[in-house]
This record gives sequence, structure tokens and C-alpha cells, in this order.
Amino acid sequence: MREAGVTVVTVGVFSWARLEPRPGERDFGWLDRVLDLLHAGGIGVFLATPTASPPPWLGHRWPETLPVDEAGHRLLYGARNQFCPSAPVYRERALALVRDLADRYAAHPALAAWHVGNELGPTCHCDATAGHFRRWLRDRYGSLDALNDAWGTAFWSQRYGDWEEVLPPRLAPYVRNPAQRLDFRRFTSDALLEHYLAERAVLRRLAPGVPVTTNFISLSPQVDQWTWAGEEDLVSVDLYPDPEDPGAPAAGALGCDAARSLGGGRPWALMEQAPSAVNWRRRNLAKRPGQMRLWSLQAVARGADAVCFFQWRASRAGAEKFHSGMLPHAGADTRVHREVRALGADLARLGTLAGSRVDARVAILLDWQSWWAVELEAHPRQDLALLDLVAAWYRPLWEAGIAADLAHPAGDLSGYDLVLAPNLYLAGAATAASLEAYVHAGGHLAVGFFSGVVDECDRVHAGGCPGPLRPLLGLRVEEFLPLAGGETLRCASDRLGAFTGSLWAEHVRAEGAEVIATVSGGDLDGLPVVLRNFHGDGSAWYVGTRPDEPGLDALLREVCAGAGVRPAVAGLPPGVEAVRRGDVLFLLNHGERPVDVALEGPCVDLLSGARLDGAVALARFGAAALRPR
Ligand code: GAL
Repeated sequence: MREAGVTVVTVGVFSWARLEPRPGERDFGWLDRVLDLLHAGGIGVFLATPTASPPPWLGHRWPETLPVDEAGHRLLYGARNQFCPSAPVYRERALALVRDLADRYAAHPALAAWHVGNELGPTCHCDATAGHFRRWLRDRYGSLDALNDAWGTAFWSQRYGDWEEVLPPRLAPYVRNPAQRLDFRRFTSDALLEHYLAERAVLRRLAPGVPVTTNFISLSPQVDQWTWAGEEDLVSVDLYPDPEDPGAPAAGALGCDAARSLGGGRPWALMEQAPSAVNWRRRNLAKRPGQMRLWSLQAVARGADAVCFFQWRASRAGAEKFHSGMLPHAGADTRVHREVRALGADLARLGTLAGSRVDARVAILLDWQSWWAVELEAHPRQDLALLDLVAAWYRPLWEAGIAADLAHPAGDLSGYDLVLAPNLYLAGAATAASLEAYVHAGGHLAVGFFSGVVDECDRVHAGGCPGPLRPLLGLRVEEFLPLAGGETLRCASDRLGAFTGSLWAEHVRAEGAEVIATVSGGDLDGLPVVLRNFHGDGSAWYVGTRPDEPGLDALLREVCAGAGVRPAVAGLPPGVEAVRRGDVLFLLNHGERPVDVALEGPCVDLLSGARLDGAVALARFGAAALRPR
């Protein structure tokens, strides 16, 4: 590890059965040795609480700690993550172990941070969960009448007359109540958070001042990461872009930007990435030579102060034996391990960047609650995937070298020149007020189709969408008209040029907004599809379809120009990512071919040590970290 430049490791994830081999017993000897050894080698530890994977004895003796799926099946031990956060026995046992762990290691010199659980997110539908859900609902709604109203239970005779009748959404003959399902997602996120907070309280009491984190699956819908991140001292994420996906570099960048934004711009930790291949996709392609370094540098460029991996040594047994490790089965004399060592040296050269920030003038709105709601069933189309829409709008920014944060719609947007909302299906009064105030004060906003459709209870806004955003956007949608498979919408615009839309169309009526593009041909011929409304000192755009790539490029060029947003570097060659962190400009070549990028002035490449002027040559998958001199 020392030779590879490793300075911090995560230890103890999923180690419950090792630490507590039988109920109430403790075996810390092995962990003492590991921590002492690491410390002696100058390596710090993110010490994990092992509670994400209880040992078989817990489920065997107390089956009520095991999670139950929607169909009422209890999921057994034999894999991992088999726990119900609402089960009292699970909580007691988990907290007792966390207490003893914290007691033993609070003062250990290797301890750098606590890592609670792992990718917390499992869902349970058991009876204890039902009781917990009812308590959560009572808190939220106060009365059964308010719950009935919020869930629209007049429909299909779903009215509840007694709290005991209220259940988590379980398997049922037909489409289940969407507001119930949405609340259950909120509840599940909160129930897991409650457990995280209980662990955190123990850790903080026994080890005051040691930062606490839990690793998110990057941009996963499991929990509301905004709420959770507010309870972390350090945001950490696991990022596994697919080497087979040509969109992986942009997807990785988006994941990094999300991690940074969740922490309010603070440096974050890449807790897990694969040294090369994973083993859980249908096809598990290796990272190409140079790609692991490039994607690691991408994380640093986008604000990470730690770049870690799953896993150090490739395991020889168990479910993940074909997952890559920093030290492969074939040993240290391997391509993957050589690249790991080289990365260690690279990261050491970037040490002066620690703590510095990325300044983004653009924010992309992402609200987990709206995400959950838009992907519920029985919608105009079933295949709207929020992240696809977000990724589509992110791509042109990424290609142009324009840094973007992710932001919550009701958060403080005043620091941004431009705010993009690829989709905001759920928009209540708080979101509408926030966006209105932002644009009124001179901000620029662009909103995608099927937005402003429902309120917080998933009830449709009367009067047509975008509901409470109508005055701001200056338009009204009369009808949703999803497109048939393969069907496209031809669009014409003097400003944007001709483009096509896919997936979605709408019958839009301008109510004050200026029409920027119209549909040409078909039933919607001549109707608006892209509009812009001036409001207060700012402007608000609306896009009623999913434009093709040239269409989105043109649109975002126009929107960015109007908002005065400029790229980090003008005229980047295709495939080159540019992002500025502090005073360092990162140039990352994701392309297969070497390229030259022109420089604005004399600088030094922190990675190679070269003093440069005029241009920098980037090899295939090459990178430069340029500081002006
Ligand atoms: C993560 C998990 C790790 C490992 C990894 C494999 O989800 O936290 O323990 O399973 O995936 O890619």
C-alpha cells in the first residue's frame, strides 16, 4: 500500500460476523492488528460501522430483523443488506456494536473518519415497518382525514377509517395509490436516516470531532440525498461508470458534480470506484489502459479530496471474486497494479489542491421527491427516466467545458447565472416561489417538458401545467402527447435552426411567452415547442419535447449566451473535458486520439512538471493539471 501511495483505507464494512461471532461476544483482536499496522505504515482509516450486513445468527434467532418484500416474502441471509431499519432488535443490536466499536477506537491514531453502514437504501414492507410508517404519517398529516385527502382515497373506495388499516404499499391486484407510494419512498428514506442518525449520535458522543460519512450510490433514487447530505460531515459517493458506455465520461462527471453539490461545494470523497472491471453487469468490461487514472483525476478536478477504490486485494472467494482489485489475483506485476501505483504518484503531485473549490455558474435542479414521483406508474408514458433527461441536458455543458452544480429547486439559487430544470414533474408552492424569486431577481431558467404537473401529494395542478410555474413561464400546456416508438417531432426555429424532438410532445399555448421554436407538420403544426418568457429582470425558457443532440446543443448555447455563461476553455476538441478547480485548469482527454489544446498563457502541468506555453499535447486518455505561472 505504501508503495502505491495509499494514504487512507476503508476498513470494517460488512464485518459484523467477524466482530460479533455469537450474540453479545466481541472479537476486536483482528481489527486492532489491522488498524495498528495501517497506522504504523502512515495510513489513515475510514472506519466503517459493520451494520449494513448482519450475521446469520441475527436473522436466524430474530427473523423479524429480516426485510420483507412487497409480496410479503421475507428475504433471508446468505447475501448482504438483509435488515429492516424499523426492527427494534436490529436497531438495538446494531447500536450496541457501534457503541463498543466507537469505545474501542475513538482515540486510535489511525482513525480519520467514521463510515456508517454502506450504501444505505434497502426497503422493507414488514409489520414493524407498517407501524413505523403509520407513526411517520401521523406526524406528517396529523389526522386520518388529512391523509385521506392527501392520498385522494375517495378514488376506488380506498378511504381509511382507522390508522391500523394503513399499510406500506404491498402487492395488490392493480395500480396502487401513487401518493401512498410516494410517501412510502419518503418514509423509507427517513427511516434509514433515523437509523443513520442513531449511529451517528453514538459515534459523536464517544468520538467527538471525528467526521462522519456514509457512502451514497452516486445519483441513486434510494434515499433523498439532499436530506442525508445535510447530516454528513463529509459527503462520500461510490461511482461506477460503465466502460462500455460511450457516455461514461459525462456520466462520471455528473456523479462527481452531484457529490460536490450535495456537500454545498465542500471537497468530497470518492469512496468507491473500480480499479478496472466490476462483476455485476451483464458484460463487465475492463477499464482501458489509462482510463482509471483519467476517471480518478476527473473526480479530483471536480472537487474530490479522496480517491478510493473497492477493493484493495481482489478477493478469491465469494460473490465478488471477479471484481477487480487494486492488487489483482495475478499479483503486483500487472497492468492494473502498475496503474494504481502511478495514480498514487499523480495524486501526491496534486496535494496542493486539497480544500480548493470548483466554481460553477450553472445549476441543474434535481429533487429526489420529484424524481420518485415522475417515475411512478400509470403516467402518459412509463419510460420517462429522470436521469436520462438530466444527462441529456448535462452533456452539452460537459462537452463545452461549462461547470455545473446540482441544486435543490427550493434551495438558494441566487449564486447562479443559469438554472436548468430538465424535468420538475412535482412542483409545489415552495419550488414555484423559489424559481419565481430567482428569475425575478435577474436569474435565467430553462425548464423541460412534463414539469409543474403535480403538487407534493402527487395531485395534478388544476388549470393545466406547468401549474404554479405558469405565470413564470408564460404558457399553458393543454394536452400531453407522448410520441410513438421511433416517431419524431419536426421543429423549426430561426434562432436554433431545425431540429427534431423525440419521446414527448405537448399542446402548448403561449400566454405571454415569446415563441422560439414551433412544430412543423403533423397535428401540432405551427404550435410552440420552445418558448422564452421575460420575467422581472430575468428570463425563463420552456422546452416541450426532448430535442435531438444538435437541437439541445443549439438551445443550450443560446440559453448560456443569454445568461452570460462561458466555458472554462473556448473551442475544446471533442472528447476533451475542461474544468477549473481553484487556480488549476484540468484538461482530460477521453478520446482515443492524441490532441493539442491551445493555452491562454504560460503554465506548469502539475502532473508532468512540464512548463508549457502555447499548447498542451494530451495523449489518448491523457490529462493535464495546469497552474498559471
Ligand atoms: C458497492 C459496494 C461494495 C462492492 C461494490 C462492487 O455497491 O459498496 O461493497 O459490492 O459495489 O462494485
